[in-house]
Amino acid sequence: MAKTGVNFEYLQCSYESWYNRFKGDVHDSSIVHVPANVLSYLLSDVMVLPKNCSITRQRKEIPACYDAEEELEEPEFPDFNEKLKEAIQGLGGKVFVKLNWSAPKDASWITSTRSLCCSDPADIYLLLKSSSYISDDLSVLKEVSETSGDVPCCLVLKKWIEIHPGTEYRCFVVDKNLVGVCQRDTTSYFKYIGDNKDSILELIINYFQDHIKPKFPLNNYTFDIILALGMKINLVDFGLLNKNTDCLLFSWKELKKRKCGTSTKTPLSTEKEHSPCDRNQISSCCKPEFRYIDEFTNVPRNQCKHYGIPMDVMHFCSGEKNVADYIQEEILNNSL
Ligand SMILES: Nc1ncnc2c1ncn2[C@@H]1O[C@H](COP(=O)(O)OP(=O)(O)OP(=O)(O)O)[C@@H](O)[C@H]1O
Ligand SMILES: [Mg+2]
Repeated sequence: MAKTGVNFEYLQCSYESWYNRFKGDVHDSSIVHVPANVLSYLLSDVMVLPKNCSITRQRKEIPACYDAEEELEEPEFPDFNEKLKEAIQGLGGKVFVKLNWSAPKDASWITSTRSLCCSDPADIYLLLKSSSYISDDLSVLKEVSETSGDVPCCLVLKKWIEIHPGTEYRCFVVDKNLVGVCQRDTTSYFKYIGDNKDSILELIINYFQDHIKPKFPLNNYTFDIILALGMKINLVDFGLLNKNTDCLLFSWKELKKRKCGTSTKTPLSTEKEHSPCDRNQISSCCKPEFRYIDEFTNVPRNQCKHYGIPMDVMHFCSGEKNVADYIQEEILNNSL
């Protein structure tokens, strides 16, 4: 396969491509290949959980509005379920899940914990089936596979970690140079970031020079880290430097024109046009810009806040209304 182009970039950012190379820096993970039958279940519109998932049993205990004759056939994935259970156990009983590129961040509202923390295969299926980020990953997978040969669909299970949002940073690399760093959670003000900005930036620059740049093949990308002062830096993810990646407090246009030591407006490319700076040159020519929320910044809205359970469903589930009441009310409203 050509070592340039969007497909090559997608493949390099897929979790399985880089995990082994950065294993020492990443939280323990287990990568399970998704077999064809599970993949077609994920791609299908049917919203039913596979057999032997604990939530399926609970659902059957709510028979009031449930007609047994209309029951959809539950798919069965005993081997895959077993693999998931083993992986969850091996990672301490609680995991964070994602596919090749994305986590189901938009679906956390659907789990009993209202988070992405999964302790059993049912949580995993529920999240994967409910997330549009996961559908997008499946579409990308299809596109990339069509042109680059089969790319395995990977379910990544990561040991669940309680992460303080004020310790997460997204770093932007253009033409192999670190040009920007931003706090990852841009909806909050963390005083200590401003107080320690110089040490934080220095640690990130050194980490990039020593651990990321020598081992990651792309010229333009993002990487996400967790940095708590005095602790080892953890690598969370790599991302493409394109419009699908949230540039946070930077803008896509701004990043495109950033090149080390120059403000020339040149588009991003995967070709080696510029020689990257070494550590000694950084202070003079291309110190990355560090953006964070300070006490004077207007906090942007949380992009994920608009994902949630619809109010109608909330009312229905809380027993305030039943479906018949709800439909009648809707008909009445519409005929007024
Ligand atoms: N092992 C983990 N345990 C708990 N939370 C995690 C774990 N890994 C990641 N997270 C949280 O989930 C968030 C999203 O994770 P990740 O970056 O892997 O998803 P993503 O879909 O690639 O996100 P994005 O689209 O922003 O790149 C992280 O910012 C972090 O807060
Ligand atoms: Mg990511």
